[in-house]
Amino acid sequence: MTRRNPSTTGRGGGREDKAAQLLSAFRNAFGEANPEDVLIARAPGRVNLIGDHTDYHEGFVLPMTIDRCAYVALRARDDDTAILYATQFGERITCPLSQPPATRPGAWTAYVSGVVNELRERLPGGFEMLVDGDVPVGAGLSSSAALSTAVVYALDQLFGLEIDPIDAARLSQQVEHRYAGVSCGIMDPFVSRLGRRGHALLLDCRSLSCEHVPLPQTPASGAALEIVVADSGVRRKLADSGYNARRRECERALEIIQRSRPGVRSLRDAAAGDLPLLPPLARRRVRHVLEENRRVLHARDALRQKDYEAFGALMNESHESLRDRYEVSCAELDAMAAAARNVEGVLGSRMTGGGFGGCTVHLARPSAAAALRRALCESCAKTHGRPPAIYIVRENHRTERL
Ligand code: GLA
Repeated sequence: MTRRNPSTTGRGGGREDKAAQLLSAFRNAFGEANPEDVLIARAPGRVNLIGDHTDYHEGFVLPMTIDRCAYVALRARDDDTAILYATQFGERITCPLSQPPATRPGAWTAYVSGVVNELRERLPGGFEMLVDGDVPVGAGLSSSAALSTAVVYALDQLFGLEIDPIDAARLSQQVEHRYAGVSCGIMDPFVSRLGRRGHALLLDCRSLSCEHVPLPQTPASGAALEIVVADSGVRRKLADSGYNARRRECERALEIIQRSRPGVRSLRDAAAGDLPLLPPLARRRVRHVLEENRRVLHARDALRQKDYEAFGALMNESHESLRDRYEVSCAELDAMAAAARNVEGVLGSRMTGGGFGGCTVHLARPSAAAALRRALCESCAKTHGRPPAIYIVRENHRTERL
């Protein structure tokens, strides 16, 4: 999907500024509006620090939210009509609640309409909804999970639906499966809905229990380390990439393991002893899952102990495994990770998210920032002739009303 108009909610400015911008965009779209009648909410995108391609095997992940969000401004109507407006795409849709618009995988409507469709029996009436956001689309920073999370949250808050946050995350995941054609795991909506400021989130994707782990203080708050995200600009749609293919390969590997160990419910339960049963490609995939799960738990311990060198080393190993065993990286991301690793003061570098393009994430000492930026730009210039967009994650937001 391509953006027609730049976002009306530029970054910068505080919560009040953002709320005022959204109210004014809402008035432009829907006419005069009393501020008390318009609910404004946001849900953040995420960057995964470690633990990729483990969530749908009921494994462990350690993502954090970022300061880029999806925004919703919402007002109830006294009829059964839903009017949806997306500022980023300049598109407006009007429909009866009983017939949310047909969706195209990958389009913003898939997420908004998908949520409305799933919730429609619980909605007391129609509404006007403006959606906007500044999470880069298709960069692997979960713009879609942020959008569906913001829509679920705003409808929940406006109509008092009392949706449990974990059920909200499950609902967003279902929307991806049913309306966007991506068999994704639960990591992205879970952290968007349940992530906390100043913390990463360790999630056990089987029990859905989670633990909030303090992040290194950012230089803005007086110390330690920077979390740097670099968007290669290489885009893939998860639905068309190797994502669903990896899931199918792993399902076949699981079936082979289950023939000798029927108690194994998912690759979370696989063990090193199962590897010899598998053909070489499946063996590589399963080995990634086993070792990545272990790395995530070590990384959580390292973060708690403020052993950032150890954390960085685990990030590097994770990248190698995603590149060589799960094979979801690409030449551009590999080059960026390698270039960053050669910079003094960069502790860890890896691709993040689904892969096949998108972003890398780096843990760096503040003194390394300029050299890291240079190394990433040179790397992208060589591989695909376009500078990366670089974000330093100074704050991480949570899902909330503005
Ligand atoms: C995408 C999916 C997630 C997860 C990651 C890989 O972001 O949406 O559920 O599987 O890829 O870790």
